[in-house]
Amino acid sequence: MEKAQRLRRCGERTVLYCVVLPVCGAAAAGQIRYSIPEEMQKGSFVGNIAQDLGLEAKALSERGVRVISRGRTQYFALNVKSGHLITAERLDREQLCGRAEKCVINFELLVEDEVKLFAVEIELTDVNDHAPSFQEGKLEFRISETTAVGTRYSLEEAQDPDVGINSIRDYQLSSNEHFSLHVQAGAAGDKYPELVLEKPLDREEQAGQDLILTATDGGDPVRSGTARIHVVVLDANDNAPVFSQPLYRVSVRENVPVGSALLTVSATDADEGLNAAVAYSLRKTKDKASETFQVDSRTGDIVTVGTLDYEEEAVYELEVQARDIGDFWGRAKVLVTVLDVNDNAPQITVTSLSTSLSEDSPPGTVIALLYIRDKDSGGNGEITCSIPNHLPFRLQKSLDTYYSLVTARDLDREQVADYNITVTAKDSGTPPLSTTTFVFLKILDINDNAPAFSQAAYSVWVSENNARGASVFCARAADADWGDNARVTYWLAEGELQGAPLSSWLSVQAESGAVHALRALDYEQVREYNVTVTATDKGAPPLATTQPVRLQVSDVNDNAPLFEEASYSAYVAENNPAGASLLRVRASDPDLGRNGRVTYSLGRPDGAPEWKAGPKQKPKYRERSVPYSYNLHWDSTFSTGSKDSENN
Ligand SMILES: *[C@@H]1O[C@H](CO)[C@@H](O)[C@H](O)[C@H]1NC(C)=O
Repeated sequence: MEKAQRLRRCGERTVLYCVVLPVCGAAAAGQIRYSIPEEMQKGSFVGNIAQDLGLEAKALSERGVRVISRGRTQYFALNVKSGHLITAERLDREQLCGRAEKCVINFELLVEDEVKLFAVEIELTDVNDHAPSFQEGKLEFRISETTAVGTRYSLEEAQDPDVGINSIRDYQLSSNEHFSLHVQAGAAGDKYPELVLEKPLDREEQAGQDLILTATDGGDPVRSGTARIHVVVLDANDNAPVFSQPLYRVSVRENVPVGSALLTVSATDADEGLNAAVAYSLRKTKDKASETFQVDSRTGDIVTVGTLDYEEEAVYELEVQARDIGDFWGRAKVLVTVLDVNDNAPQITVTSLSTSLSEDSPPGTVIALLYIRDKDSGGNGEITCSIPNHLPFRLQKSLDTYYSLVTARDLDREQVADYNITVTAKDSGTPPLSTTTFVFLKILDINDNAPAFSQAAYSVWVSENNARGASVFCARAADADWGDNARVTYWLAEGELQGAPLSSWLSVQAESGAVHALRALDYEQVREYNVTVTATDKGAPPLATTQPVRLQVSDVNDNAPLFEEASYSAYVAENNPAGASLLRVRASDPDLGRNGRVTYSLGRPDGAPEWKAGPKQKPKYRERSVPYSYNLHWDSTFSTGSKDSENN
């Protein structure tokens, strides 16, 4: 069906330009001209050549009619039955003739029997069988965003092998904001498309765009080809860096170590690549901020390079700057608030101090003035001050930062001679910090203690017959005071004894309290001395204590019994009965007790043999109740003892 249609159409369009001509002789007898559209199928009807040559169709083969081709390719053939000239293959005008306006194929027809040649000329007419096309389906333009409006860019021309009206006729550009299309006509009717910038580009707004360039031919139907145009907008450094916020705030504890990162600032640059690279810096200022902080030029990290001290600087205002390579810059402020940390212990200064205090100072006497401060603020700087409870002192707050250390009770040097008072100042931070200091106080002595004897009363025994000047006892009194107040001297109260002053009997050494007997004491003469020792200290005024001392003389057997008579004589009658009293001798001894107790015994007069007293012969006497008086009785007869025993 399609074949039939095509054939008919081709047939219709087959045009016989002229039919010629009886040619005589063997040479070219005439010329036949046909015109056919290109691209007809093989075997398509070109012309009824038999008829056009005036030949019998049936006789063609008999007459040896054939096509003589000039080249090697036979494009046409003769159907000897029908007498029709047909295409031997599909003919492509563009292939055979290129862009030539007119495409003609020549060959000869030989009629053998008459040796006649007919020239046949077939014109191939163009059919719009090609669409315009671009060699590069995709074009790319790199255009800086600063390019001036009106700048032109040549575009590639489209190709269309068809000729005439079937060839390129026009170009169109897809609708867009920035570009228009300008088509320039060359001398030979060629068309050169150009891209024209109509509106400034902004990479930051639109970094690239795609356009479609369409080329159309004039055929019927119109055929077209497209090329994509990709426009890349090249960056220009036309934007300054912008910080993410105009003001950064950060709070930081004052004790962060040096090198701590506080925050990161960030600025962006709408440009691209190198144009978008920013370097951060802190604006140099005269104050401490620039020595305390640094910004990493690449990362924007702000770090401390010095120590922070709330007490010194509580707020820092920094200005941070971001710069790109084109010297465009942006700025932001950074507010660093330093938070107080309890990093300062209270300080105590003893501003006034008496290192010693008399023990009789009344309660409320000021010992020291303490100046107390803490560099921290708020609770971290609130101080309470204390001393141990058991001490006889208290702290009195005066003003805000002063304490006075005063005595709270009476002092007694004899109990505590000095105090090392620990003063503690503590702040209310968490954790609290404290400081201690020591106030040393020496208590000065007052002569408030009299010397005290170790015993309420002394009773001393001294043996009689002492050497003259011998120490008989030592008075000893202690004084709780100190120094001269405690230095004790002794003296004896004056008195009289047996008509002589006591001082002639006894004396005391003032410093040592040693009491000496100036004479040999004699029990038999004076048995007891009652003296008073006074101990006095050297205070001003001095204090004294008296102490009675009873000095008793103890007896020593220093007296031999003494007979009342130097000699006794008695006459004894013979035959005196045993037991009869002869005489009475009497001896006395002034010593006391056993020392004064006298016993009697008989002895022989000098030169006479010893009385031999045997058990039975021992002279017996009996003590009578009358002291110092004894009766001598004969118990037995006296006899003389042997000489031996005497010499033994
Ligand atoms: C007080 O006591 C402290 C702590 O025991 C000591 O370091 C200081 O030397 C003492 N002061 C005096 C004067 O003894």
